Amino acid sequence: MNSQPVILITGAGRGIGRATALALAAQGYHVAVNYVGNREAAEDTARCCREASAESGGEAITIQGDVGDAKHREGMMRAVLDHFGRIDGLVNNAGIAPKQRADILDASEESFEQLMRVNLQGPYFLTQRIARWWIREQPESRLPNGFTVIFITSISSDMASVNRGEYCVSKAGLSMAASLWAVRLAQLGILVYEIRPGIVATDMTAKVKEKYDALIQDGLIPQHRWGKPEDTGKAVASLMRGDFPYSPGSVIYTDGALHIPRL
Ligand SMILES: NC(=O)c1ccc[n+]([C@@H]2O[C@H](COP(=O)([O-])OP(=O)(O)OC[C@H]3O[C@@H](n4cnc5c(N)ncnc54)[C@H](OP(=O)(O)O)[C@@H]3O)[C@@H](O)[C@H]2O)c1
Repeated sequence: MNSQPVILITGAGRGIGRATALALAAQGYHVAVNYVGNREAAEDTARCCREASAESGGEAITIQGDVGDAKHREGMMRAVLDHFGRIDGLVNNAGIAPKQRADILDASEESFEQLMRVNLQGPYFLTQRIARWWIREQPESRLPNGFTVIFITSISSDMASVNRGEYCVSKAGLSMAASLWAVRLAQLGILVYEIRPGIVATDMTAKVKEKYDALIQDGLIPQHRWGKPEDTGKAVASLMRGDFPYSPGSVIYTDGALHIPRL
């Protein structure tokens, strides 16, 4: 086993997580590709990662686990440690949209609870679990600026969509989680960042493609295009390789300037 950093990416079989795993593998990192149900997609991501990092000997493994389940979170961490003997970075990417977009006057508590469990409680406590391991074991980080955690939140952390309120609330909470972990861990030499993607072409947005095609055509996004998963993958790779050593707690937008209020 060579001396590259080992990064766990949750929800890395498809979409933004897959692009992130590939961007990290292209840097020669070892990656652990977590998925919950779509094993085939995760195996394909891992295979492409191995190809991308073949020259540097980067490895890629897949790990099944529901980030919203405490026992699974423990199992995911253990699987990374069993295989690589270490972990240097965590990308909290896995997330879900409501099964049905429903006006907040009609939305169900069941959907609210599910989104909080997966989108907020999962990454919050997976970060706690891995941070405790770093603090207890005190291994030397293979990342240039120390162990690193990245939260993938969303433009929905502060843009209101009343037909998927539970998603917005989960992401707003996750942005605060990123700030809390950034403050708590900075003093221990562990860097925490937040990336807020805008409207990205993935399976998550496939059902509303036509709606967003029209909005983008009408100028909703200053850069005038859909976000690509790679936009966020590249930002993660840059943060992991140490390009922002004095910026923990920063929010990086990968949204084509969508977040800027305009008149
Ligand atoms: N797409 C956008 O426009 C957009 C914008 C802003 C933020 N985001 C955020 O970016 C992240 C990735 O979104 P995406 O668009 O790439 O989504 P996606 O295409 O739907 O992919 C989601 C990934 O997360 C995994 N996943 C779902 N629930 C999980 C769970 N309970 N435990 C572990 N893994 C789980 C899925 O695994 P399986 O493949 O096994 O199902 C899949 O690999 C999410 O947090 C999302 O909220 C997306």
